[in-house]
Amino acid sequence: MRRVYPLLTLVIFLLASCEKQEHRSVRIDVKELVGIKGCPYCHDMRRKLLGPSFYDISRRYYPKDREQLIDSILKGSSGRWGDRSMPPQKLSREEAELIVDWILNLKNDLN
Ligand code: HEC
Repeated sequence: MRRVYPLLTLVIFLLASCEKQEHRSVRIDVKELVGIKGCPYCHDMRRKLLGPSFYDISRRYYPKDREQLIDSILKGSSGRWGDRSMPPQKLSREEAELIVDWILNLKNDLN
């Protein structure tokens, strides 16, 4: 038994640090996903391009609007921000959910 304890401690330590890293990589991955899916062609973080900036979207909406935003991305959106419309985007529902949660969270960076 005496030999097992240090090993067990090491395993627990490794598991704990893996978990931490995973959290960090999720944050980075969402931004990468946004890039891969071509959103920056029309959306900048802070400036209005063809579409509103991600910070402006975050300012306007709350967690109760999550479904609407997911729908807008998957099915397209028009008439909410001006006379430009967004065509339906090619991504899975899970990807849209991740991106919408990321956008809604940007509100915490404001103030
Ligand atoms: C071809 C340009 C274009 C691309 C590419 C694009 N968007 Fe948009 N997006 C727009 C425009 C224009 C609007 C404003 C639509 C409106 O007024 O309803 C918009 C609005 C939005 C909104 C707000 C919708 C609402 O209900 O108010 C979200 C969220 C969004 N885009 C996310 C994304 C994401 C995520 C991607 C990448 C997967 C993306 N967009 C790609 C042009 C684009």
